Amino acid sequence: MLSAITTGKPAGRRSSVFYNDVINGLRAANKYLQSKYFYDGTGDRLFQQIMACPEYYPTRCEMEILQHQSDRIAQLFVEGNTPFDLVELGPGDATKSYYLLRELLKIKAPFTYYPIDISSNVISSLENKLPLSLPGLQFHGLNGEYMEKMERVSNISAQRKIVLFMGANIGNMTMQQAIIFCRQLHGRMRPGDLLLIGFDLKKHPKTILDAYNDGQGITAAFNLNLLKRINRELDADFNPELFEHYPVYDPGTGACKSYLVSRISQQVHIGNETTIDFMENEPIFMEISQKYSLPETDYIARQSGFHAVHTFYDAKKWFADILWERLA
Ligand code: TRP
Repeated sequence: MLSAITTGKPAGRRSSVFYNDVINGLRAANKYLQSKYFYDGTGDRLFQQIMACPEYYPTRCEMEILQHQSDRIAQLFVEGNTPFDLVELGPGDATKSYYLLRELLKIKAPFTYYPIDISSNVISSLENKLPLSLPGLQFHGLNGEYMEKMERVSNISAQRKIVLFMGANIGNMTMQQAIIFCRQLHGRMRPGDLLLIGFDLKKHPKTILDAYNDGQGITAAFNLNLLKRINRELDADFNPELFEHYPVYDPGTGACKSYLVSRISQQVHIGNETTIDFMENEPIFMEISQKYSLPETDYIARQSGFHAVHTFYDAKKWFADILWERLA
């Protein structure tokens, strides 16, 4: 799950990155849109509602881990007995990390918190909130790309690093992309540094599918909202009623994918110069949410230069926050 706060800059027309990404995706042989664009103001609100749906379990499972096991996690963080920098990639509103931060303050751990987010809204709202909710917390928010800002933290401070990458953000990549991403993290960490990483685990296929197909239709509205955003920001004429939300989960690969399927043969215009043809039943691929078995998470760790120190589960074992150590 991603942060539920608006990401990205306001997109202009034609020459904007948003425009180019949309055009490239819709002109591809297999049409796709990038899920990072889901989160405009309405998208943020819809995602908040998804997280509150009875079917959408990941947020609640990970929250349970942080609420009940932060004392144990904090103990493992301070075992090194040296001051550290706690770097969080994509903190959102930090409701989950709050429990961990509170615990670290309680045991007087010597650390500075560095939340990194692509959204300046996320960082400025943390800057307003954290001093009130966690008095005494030393922190330094950074607005920008993960890898670039991790390098920035290393330039600011030579302390050992503990990186948080929660929310099953890793699930929005394929396994190959996840390995590349973790190798990039490895490259910006030192031997002995720690990474706490959240994985949504394989479970009964119906449980997973339901989480991406809630009964109230909020997930459908969330997907269709991206078409409305394209209409508004890029001058397009999608009729959202002519597209149907179609989620699939493959228990073999662990890939949960969302599509929008064109109900009829139709043309959509984007600005004056672009026309996109849809065949009846043609899908637009919207998003992957990859689910893992524990051996698969170990495989990613090995392939990217980490090894698992401890696995924290919720009571149902539907979700895992795994503590990895960066190998030499
Ligand atoms: N990517 C997040 C997840 O996998 C958020 C999300 C929930 C989502 N439902 C979605 C993204 C449906 C796209 C489509 O949990």
